[in-house]
Amino acid sequence: MDSRSTDTTSHSKTQSYLEMGKVLLSRRRTPRILVVDDNRDVLRLMQELLASRGYDAVAISHAAEAEAEIRQQPPDLILLDVVMPGKSGYDLCREIKDDPATRLIPVVLITGLSDREDKLRGIEAGADDFLNKPIFAEELFARVKSLLKLKEFTDELETAETVICTLGLSVEARDPYTEGHCERLSRYACDLGMHIGLDEEALIALRRGGYLHDLGKIGVPDEILKKGSNLTLAEWEIMKQHPVTGETICKPLRSLRLVLPIIRSHHEHVNGTGYPDGLRKGEIPLLPRILQVADVYDALRTARPYKPALTHEQAAVTMCDEAKTGLWDEELVTEFFEMLRKQRQVA
Ligand SMILES: [Fe+2]
Repeated sequence: MDSRSTDTTSHSKTQSYLEMGKVLLSRRRTPRILVVDDNRDVLRLMQELLASRGYDAVAISHAAEAEAEIRQQPPDLILLDVVMPGKSGYDLCREIKDDPATRLIPVVLITGLSDREDKLRGIEAGADDFLNKPIFAEELFARVKSLLKLKEFTDELETAETVICTLGLSVEARDPYTEGHCERLSRYACDLGMHIGLDEEALIALRRGGYLHDLGKIGVPDEILKKGSNLTLAEWEIMKQHPVTGETICKPLRSLRLVLPIIRSHHEHVNGTGYPDGLRKGEIPLLPRILQVADVYDALRTARPYKPALTHEQAAVTMCDEAKTGLWDEELVTEFFEMLRKQRQVA
């Protein structure tokens, strides 16, 4: 390995550990609560009540201002008035819940209305809870406490996911020749998923799959991992374990359930010659087949110690030929190059 490669590897590792540290440290702070109400008296009262319990309460009287604040510094909890001039609390709540970056922030709708229909509207908008006006301090504290607890759990879950994704990157960093592979793979797979019309949940799984698919290589010794090709039979058996090892590591996290098939089956072939289960086309789930197409393309387009990088056109011919022999999903390969063609046209 040359010195530039060593530098690159240690730089990537350092970056990963810094990220991990940042995530772990970010939990130790005062919960930040955003209160949005056009009635300044209610706003002041709530801010004082929350401050009396040691919360960092930010008071805002306008929906547009609240939107900017949420984007700039996402709070741990939002208390939101329903009736406001301009955008209503329902609309703002719906926007918060539709945005993947903010949808895990609990939202309490504050309403003077006790009508069943209004509550239903709030539930439809994704509200986590309701508070009736006039506000009673004890009721406010009880709601805030339980929702902040919930937020803490989701943050912990996110932390666990982030740490696992960071581990995925650290596996990549062990092989200097695959630098940036996870990121590109994630993007290609997600783009292909979008191109064939998959839903948001599947796209998130593909994005995570890009980082996590080879996590199990954490259990493969360096001397095997860096050999790249010409593995002995015994070494190959160890290498073939990585999909199962990766699946085992991620299994406890329910939020990664859609990623598990990607991790386990990304080396299956539609003709049944893949591993670890020797599945055939109809048996291999769609998401690993998508990730595989993206993975093969990126591998062909990247130079490795044992092979040069192919051009886009050469990669297209190779992949179409290989798909015909039953290695990759032929329809997905066609869709993938159609998607790249459209992307190139736009660019
Ligand atoms: Fe793999």
